[in-house]
Amino acid sequence: MAIGIFDSGIGGLTVLDAVQKHLPDVPLVYLGDNAHAPYGVRDADEILELTRAGVERLWQAGCDLVILACNTASAAALRRMQEAGLPEGKRVLGVFVPMIEALTERQWGDNSPPREVAVKHVALFATPATVASRAFQRELAFRAIGVDVEAQACGGVVDAIEEGDMILAEALVRSHVEALMRKMPTPEAAVLGCTHYPLMQEAFQAALGTDTLVFSQADLVAQSLGDYLERHPDMRGESQVSMFLTTGDPARVSDRATQFLRRKIEFHAA
Ligand code: DGL
Repeated sequence: MAIGIFDSGIGGLTVLDAVQKHLPDVPLVYLGDNAHAPYGVRDADEILELTRAGVERLWQAGCDLVILACNTASAAALRRMQEAGLPEGKRVLGVFVPMIEALTERQWGDNSPPREVAVKHVALFATPATVASRAFQRELAFRAIGVDVEAQACGGVVDAIEEGDMILAEALVRSHVEALMRKMPTPEAAVLGCTHYPLMQEAFQAALGTDTLVFSQADLVAQSLGDYLERHPDMRGESQVSMFLTTGDPARVSDRATQFLRRKIEFHAA
């Protein structure tokens, strides 16, 4: 049994890459729902149905633990899936909490009351569905007080990345950062709240300037998964089989993935 990593498309590869670097011995099965990307413009019910189908496919592939390496799915579907109940022995984890714990200077699972933290002005860049869910602000409010969050829905960026049009993606990033900075001129921290956005991290940092600390979600999720597996070694499994699955066109998705990760990646039909 390997660990499953799910995203609407190729963005979750940023998390897979960090997990492989941090935990090189853990076999991973990646599933990109490229046929239905982007999720960020869909409503919450649709995102729930698509996410549920993806997670079930990864369970079928022998993964007991699935990471939703997609903020949109984590924001719109995770809580509802957990409330509806998961099959025995199966777990689904999202990508929000590790990032918010880092931002609020907390160790894993520190559930003490909210308190003041160093950062006061946080810029959140995410998909329209993630911004609309307000899940980031809700999780933050459990842990910190007095933090002002300005959220920018970054329409079009995921589509451009999925199409491999990095010039358009960069232009859109610049215009979304400008729009954010009109509302919050000096954010101390910026959260790239979509797993596709680390592929544009340099463009975000350049547009924000060097005074804004950009949080890298992929590394934080990888560290947090390492902690989780130490506490739950049974979720690690014994299989050594890693693979890449997509609901889209495997040849096309393989080309994009190889371009982004700068190593040969071969996707197969899910
Ligand atoms: N990578 C997904 C996320 O983290 C992108 C969502 C989409 O498909 O719009 O939100």
